[in-house]
Amino acid sequence: MEEKKNRIKDLPKIERPREKFLKKGPEALSKSDLLAILLGSGVKGKNVQKLAQQIIKKFGKAFLNITVDDLLKISGIGQVKALQIASAISLVKRFYEEEKGNEIVIKNSKDVISLTYDLRDKKKEYLICLYLNARNVLIKKETISIGTLDKSLLHPREIFYPAVELNSASIILVHNHPTGDPTPSKEDNTIVEKIVQAGEIMGISVIDFIITAKNGNYSFHEVLRGVDENIDYVAEGVQVGLFDFLEIKKPTYEIDAKKIKENYFYIPQVKQNHIQLHNRRYIGSKHKLIEWIFSVINKECGGDSFADVFAGTGIVSAIATKHFKKIILNDFLYSNYAIYQAFFGNGEWNKNKIDNIIKDYNNIYGEDLEDNYFSNYFGGKYFSYNSSKIIGFVRENIEKNKNNLTSREYYMLIASLLYTVDKIANTVGHYDAYFKKDSINDDFFMKPIDPVNVDEISIFREDTNLLVKKIKADVVYIDPPYNSRQYSRFYHVLETLTKWDKPKLHGVALKPDPENMSDYCRINAKTRFAELVRYIDARYLVVSYNNTYDSKSNSSKNKITLQEIEKILQRKGKTKVFEKDYKYFNAGNTNFNNHKEYLFVTKV
Ligand SMILES: C[S@@+](CC[C@H](N)C(=O)[O-])C[C@H]1O[C@@H](n2cnc3c(N)ncnc32)[C@H](O)[C@@H]1O
Repeated sequence: MEEKKNRIKDLPKIERPREKFLKKGPEALSKSDLLAILLGSGVKGKNVQKLAQQIIKKFGKAFLNITVDDLLKISGIGQVKALQIASAISLVKRFYEEEKGNEIVIKNSKDVISLTYDLRDKKKEYLICLYLNARNVLIKKETISIGTLDKSLLHPREIFYPAVELNSASIILVHNHPTGDPTPSKEDNTIVEKIVQAGEIMGISVIDFIITAKNGNYSFHEVLRGVDENIDYVAEGVQVGLFDFLEIKKPTYEIDAKKIKENYFYIPQVKQNHIQLHNRRYIGSKHKLIEWIFSVINKECGGDSFADVFAGTGIVSAIATKHFKKIILNDFLYSNYAIYQAFFGNGEWNKNKIDNIIKDYNNIYGEDLEDNYFSNYFGGKYFSYNSSKIIGFVRENIEKNKNNLTSREYYMLIASLLYTVDKIANTVGHYDAYFKKDSINDDFFMKPIDPVNVDEISIFREDTNLLVKKIKADVVYIDPPYNSRQYSRFYHVLETLTKWDKPKLHGVALKPDPENMSDYCRINAKTRFAELVRYIDARYLVVSYNNTYDSKSNSSKNKITLQEIEKILQRKGKTKVFEKDYKYFNAGNTNFNNHKEYLFVTKV
């Protein structure tokens, strides 16, 4: 009797799905009503509406990915009904794909799976490629191979030829494992590496390689990125491809670079007992490359004004003063800004006054001083106790004396102190760590700086991407960091000493809270670089680049490739590339073979 009551024909006529559809249209029906119409009849002990409700409830949002096998697991559903449902879903999807093909946006692995839902039931292995445009909109879905995936048979050409034809920005590959286990085989891993490497050469990013099987899916993107399922492929506004995560050696990219023999001679100034601008240890300082750089600049560029927008030590600007009338200097570090004000500033200063103050500072003995902020943190670590007491005392004294000093004199004293600190620091040259020693020499000795002559100068301490929207120069020299090493963290002791706001310091390396963290050291470096180039108002752009990429350590890997730089610059103007073999900064982990320094010159 109960069973009879559940039969559909016992429902009031208006509630029956078919009648409801005819009277009120499909919008009035629930999902289970619509499915009930499709099923037509119930099964033994369950009327069609109950059956439909059960299916909708069981699969929920995964309904569009239901397979015949999934349906057969529901008691009472036979092959005919399973095929009815699966075919209807496929039919709708097919039309949807055809009609809206240009508008399917692939945001994450879930989107990929629902586009390739039929693959996991295949008895043979398939390799499918989704070709995407720059907005991750699907351009085309193509079957690349059917049958066992074999690295010796699969040629990247089969994947990338259509990508070039379709003007595709990136691709996603989907492969099925008929065994039911989605775990990648050794062969899969080799193939992924081969394809990702080819993609890097072609400039077509391989966003993901997904293995789909009855027992689940495996996304290389999610696993390598170490994130949860369904995280979007776009991170921090930037598309992330597999190449960014894989420890793959950069493919050799033959760039048409001219080797330039220097014909420019630079004779460093020598002034006894004075500090020259280049007398400091600084990662990426172009001091040793300056002749080569100006051989190129003098030959390729012209004009009156020169902007050094990631100036670091400022050495490039110091040489530029010999060839350009107007110099613009910028770096977002406080210590670099103080150094530029001291060496390049055009404010008044009195040499005798500076010399006498420095003489007084050199007559101070650490033993006579109390502990201070600087010695409390850094004593016996980055410096000897006595030296750190003197450094802290001198810095405090400069601040107290500020009203008796011109702005130029104030910065000159700070710069002298910074160079002295660099000379005596118990480190390899930066402040990520200090040597563990039983005793450190007390060798504090300050010298005055020897300023650089310049006609016209503008000094900034800004984020370069913001600055370039406000300045204009004939030549803009661009030398950003290219790996994840943050300058503000490496030179934190100099930053703390310059700012002198005595922050709380943390960890073994005694660093302050992060400030001035560069986007050029992050995953979105490429976007920032493209934005920078777009906004620069100049006749010539000169960009330095070095291939630290071969390094084994992730932090040494470049965030932007040579090829990407060239592509971005070519959009701005005709670009030439110059090359020089050069040995660079080594923290012990870097492979020096084939180490090259490049200079791009773009005529806008
Ligand atoms: C490779 S170094 C430049 C070296 C310099 N050409 C020299 O010869 O000394 C890069 C410099 O860019 C600065 N920098 C990094 N990101 C910056 C940003 N977003 N805005 C301003 N300066 C930045 C760093 O502080 C660092 O001094």
